[in-house]
Amino acid sequence: MTARIVLLGATGYTGRRTAEEMVGRGLRPVLAGRSPRRLAPLAQRLGDLETATADATDAASVRALVTEGDVLVSTVGPFVQLGEAALAAAVEAGATYLDSTGEPPFIRRVFEEFGPLAERTGASLLTAFGNDYVPGNLAGALALQLAGEQAHRVEVAYYLTGGGRSQVFSRGTLASLAGVATEQVFTWRDGISAEPAGLRMRTFPVAGRERPALTIGSSEHYTLPRLHPGPHEVDVYLGWFGPATKAVHLGSRVGSSLLRLPGARPLVRRLGELATSRVAEEPDPAVLERVTSHFIGATFDAAGTPQSEVRLVAGDPYRLTARLLAWGAGRAAERGVTGLGALGPVDAFGLDVLEAGCAEIGLRRT
Ligand SMILES: NC(=O)c1ccc[n+]([C@@H]2O[C@H](COP(=O)([O-])OP(=O)(O)OC[C@H]3O[C@@H](n4cnc5c(N)ncnc54)[C@H](OP(=O)(O)O)[C@@H]3O)[C@@H](O)[C@H]2O)c1
Repeated sequence: MTARIVLLGATGYTGRRTAEEMVGRGLRPVLAGRSPRRLAPLAQRLGDLETATADATDAASVRALVTEGDVLVSTVGPFVQLGEAALAAAVEAGATYLDSTGEPPFIRRVFEEFGPLAERTGASLLTAFGNDYVPGNLAGALALQLAGEQAHRVEVAYYLTGGGRSQVFSRGTLASLAGVATEQVFTWRDGISAEPAGLRMRTFPVAGRERPALTIGSSEHYTLPRLHPGPHEVDVYLGWFGPATKAVHLGSRVGSSLLRLPGARPLVRRLGELATSRVAEEPDPAVLERVTSHFIGATFDAAGTPQSEVRLVAGDPYRLTARLLAWGAGRAAERGVTGLGALGPVDAFGLDVLEAGCAEIGLRRT
């Protein structure tokens, strides 16, 4: 029997696109959100879907959405501020949970705090199940499989090309990025190790030239070391900042000490909120059609000699996020997932099923 799917955040940009992709796959999710007025026309347009009202600031209303065995998908962000209620509801109910976060502090809480609780209640938690960070999990795992025992270190990189200077991110994504700019992130050195975002910079050859990228904390730091044989070092890079990369990198090095000054963090956060309030709610669909998303997984031996490299590409990152969430939720509802607690995409579905599922939705090896 197919489990019930509940999509919380259905009225947002990512949520609406996810609902459309779910319906395109023949699924009939319950559309949940805080505004019945916004839910009703969407539910009607997508084929008279069931709706439910819940507010992320009212934990009991979110808890009432899910029962044991359900699949709960949350696209309500910023997750650092609004994500806990859905996560806690899934853990308490013993449900399968997927979300669209890309925020390192939230990912860390899922693996370190909620994962162990979920193992006890029978819940399975799949965080960051979108453009960030499923493709890097797949590329990294494939590169590790190719390198075998020789892989001491794995590097994963995310790039977007083709967007020029146009707005490629939704306001919701920019608000979430601004919210974590002042936070510590992490890397993996035989264990999780805290460090500022953007601490290390390197270039990768992408679309015909060397392009810079900066380190970030993500799910690969927790999931790739679990694979066998697991790497001792994991670094994940974002190459989204183009010519601004160097400034962001320097800002990260200087900023981490400046941010210790009293009042600095709230000020930077407020500046981020102000900046994001001025951009359009949604990116221009014509721009997204021109964008290519590139994902790299590369391994190195203990001496730093390259061992293997796997590259994946896709188009519009929001389409990819919506399709990943729809595929993951559909597969979990129909066939279940392997494992309890905080899982990576490879843990939950297996490498072959994940690679085939990703290829079907347009994320392919080059
Ligand atoms: N990992 C990735 O690759 C990836 C890709 C896409 C998006 N994201 C993340 O996903 C999140 C959503 O992005 P978006 O572009 O869809 O943003 P958005 O359009 O602003 O959508 C936010 C959603 O959250 C809902 N919401 C806000 N406060 C709420 C509350 N108190 N209770 C219940 N619902 C509430 C909004 O409901 P209303 O409609 O009622 O306002 C809306 O549905 C962001 O954190 C973004 O960074 C990540």
